[in-house]
Amino acid sequence: MKRILAVALLVSIGISAHADPAKRSGYSYAEPETRSIQDDDFANPGMLWVETGEKAWATADGESGKSCQSCHGAADGMKGVATHYPKFAASAGKVIDMEQRINLCRENGMKAKPYKWESQELLGLTAFLKMQSRGMPVSVSIDGPAAPLPCQGQGRVLSAARPA
Ligand code: HEC
Repeated sequence: MKRILAVALLVSIGISAHADPAKRSGYSYAEPETRSIQDDDFANPGMLWVETGEKAWATADGESGKSCQSCHGAADGMKGVATHYPKFAASAGKVIDMEQRINLCRENGMKAKPYKWESQELLGLTAFLKMQSRGMPVSVSIDGPAAPLPCQGQGRVLSAARPA
């Protein structure tokens, strides 16, 4: 339930959760009434997550005594980054999503414990990072090292099942 809510909130922030071929944000399919709520940041419950994430971004933690900001600077430097996730990460040797990326930085960069799955901080930081790309089209790579993405496999299964 929490997960569904989080996805809905992230979508409401303006980035589609998956790469659709037309590369349009869920926003462009929304009813005018939904859009006007999304346009008004104060009325958008997703903004509470974004605020939690903003705080976490600047909070030092772990043995390194660093925050996300210590290494990455102001969050607007992350503009566009979220549009490429899920993405192949050479350091992990696999395709990872934004939550996994954040936890890699927690463990390797901050020498801190990874956030619990669906914790306030992890959901908040994910929302906050996606916020930096608000309104930008999704740009997920499904070739090269990212080729075995599950959604691509599903496509193959679907087309194989279709009658000739
Ligand atoms: C000690 C420095 C350091 C800290 C602290 C750190 N990071 Fe990173 N981060 C990096 C480095 C270096 C990379 C890129 C290299 C790699 O793939 O590991 C990176 C990559 C990223 C990326 C991927 C960027 C892209 O273009 O795909 C995101 C998102 C990110 N960090 C978020 C965070 C968040 C959120 C935090 C705080 C929880 C954080 N980082 C803390 C050093 C750090």
